[in-house]
Amino acid sequence: MTQDERKRAVAQEALRHVVDGAVLGVGTGSTVDFFIDALATQRQRVRAVVSSSTRSTERLRAQGFQVLDLNEVERIPVYIDGADEIDPAGAMIKGGGGALTREKILAEVAERFVCIVDASKLVPVLGAFPLPVEVVPMARELVRRRLQGLGGQPRLREGLLTDNGNQILDVSGLRIDRPTELESLLNQIPGVVTVGLFARRGADLALVGSDQGVQQRDFG
Ligand code: 5RP
Repeated sequence: MTQDERKRAVAQEALRHVVDGAVLGVGTGSTVDFFIDALATQRQRVRAVVSSSTRSTERLRAQGFQVLDLNEVERIPVYIDGADEIDPAGAMIKGGGGALTREKILAEVAERFVCIVDASKLVPVLGAFPLPVEVVPMARELVRRRLQGLGGQPRLREGLLTDNGNQILDVSGLRIDRPTELESLLNQIPGVVTVGLFARRGADLALVGSDQGVQQRDFG
């Protein structure tokens, strides 16, 4: 099975977690692209969607979904999104696709976060994947120095401005033994918009695609 086949399988399985007649939160990335395409075959099940990126919004609109502004929505029963890494407690690194800020906002509103990944994303400890940190451009070098002070090696994601007009530093060299504490610490640095650590609000459920099929991990 290829990685894309595993992603397609979890995307298909995620349809079982969509709440009929409700507003659905939709994340960003290649796994989510497969999910959007699968959901399009059952479009009448969702009332509308809220999306975490321009990229997903365009794909959703092209498939005929009504995409709402989050400010028009009070409840999101389920949010479905991918991850770059997920640990045994359901804490994640996200933001490989640059959409971490809107993803974190949707995760906060959502009552249930269903993470869809292939098995390569399962890790015992987060940190092999460089941690994305979205920064206000004028604070980039300040944040870079603070991250270096914590033992990280930040690298600017060249040529990218996020949907919010900010930049991303990808930080390697961090061994993230205590993701919740690190998330809080990095959130305190002035100029940091969002840290791609999703530990304070991790996944409730992970659907994991492997050669043995789709496994379910419940963190709730
Ligand atoms: C985007 C994300 C994605 O969920 C993450 O990068 C995984 O992407 P993919 O499904 O393409 O592997 O956080 O900001």
